[in-house]
Amino acid sequence: MLESLTLPLADDFHLHVRQGAMLRDVVPLIRQGGVGRCLVMPNTVPPITSVEQALAYRDEIQSVDPDLDVLTTLYLCPELTRDVIMRAGDAGITGVKLYPRGVTTHSDLGVADVGAYDEVFAAMSEAGLVLEIHGEVQSDADRDICVMNAEPLFLPVVERLHRHFPALRIVLEHVTTAEAVAFVERAGERIAATITVHHLDLIVDDWAGQNHNFCKPVAKYPHDRAALRAAVSSGSPKFFLGSDSAPHPRDAKECAVGCAGVFTSPLMLPYLADCFERIGCLEKLAAFVSENGRRFYDVLESRDCVTLERRPCDVPKAYGSVVPYRAGETLAWSMV
Ligand code: DOR
Ligand code: ZN
Repeated sequence: MLESLTLPLADDFHLHVRQGAMLRDVVPLIRQGGVGRCLVMPNTVPPITSVEQALAYRDEIQSVDPDLDVLTTLYLCPELTRDVIMRAGDAGITGVKLYPRGVTTHSDLGVADVGAYDEVFAAMSEAGLVLEIHGEVQSDADRDICVMNAEPLFLPVVERLHRHFPALRIVLEHVTTAEAVAFVERAGERIAATITVHHLDLIVDDWAGQNHNFCKPVAKYPHDRAALRAAVSSGSPKFFLGSDSAPHPRDAKECAVGCAGVFTSPLMLPYLADCFERIGCLEKLAAFVSENGRRFYDVLESRDCVTLERRPCDVPKAYGSVVPYRAGETLAWSMV
């Protein structure tokens, strides 16, 4: 039995760090979890919609942890003209995030009509920016659409983008369904997907009535979870870590209408090692966290390593005001 595991410092290609006091609380925990580079999401208040804001956000995060490598993405909205995209490319901004309107936290300013942004997608292809997509349609009871089928119903939108903009790199974020996994597998090499640790663990029964496991997109059926597990077990370079670690204060989770989001970043690699071992693919962990994503995003290999050892790791009940994923449980692996 493997007793220790040394990996390159991990990359997390989908992370929420918020603003102000919350940002200052959660940023120091990222490297503690074994992550050295992260793509930070732009669904702040107000959202990150300009090059200047993105650079200021990166600087604010790095003023808390100067050793963290921070990649940024802009919130797709009418302010993103061709000129802004070109300047973003020159300024080293990594991507643009598409939030369909009204599907998740702070998506009220999101996109109602994806087709209205074709000029932006063309400019992104030219500038080499990556499109990150929250792939869900809005619920609509009259059309039998709800959180359980919202992801597969969004796939035709991605398919159209891929067809019209074959040079555009697209990441379908936090995939949760067998349909999305199959779509990514059969699409061209410019389509990839991120997977969270909680979606590898959870199904619908685990969040219905358990607010701390509630996130968007919601965890789905056992066969969907099986497809996600098969995707990471296959070692396919199209799937990599985007944790969607999303801190919310305890009182915003432990209430009648809880916010969507699961907080995983302080123990990212211990959670993942515990999970990958349970599903029998621990040997695929290094590629998932530090190889596949950086190749797709075309960023440099990490120079530093981290070591995990087989030693019980008690997940704290809270980090300040935030309750982490699997609070109070014990993981099989600890950071050294
Ligand atoms: O569960 C989620 N939380 N999903 C998202 O898409 C956004 C995130 C957040 O910002 O809290
Ligand atoms: Zn997210």
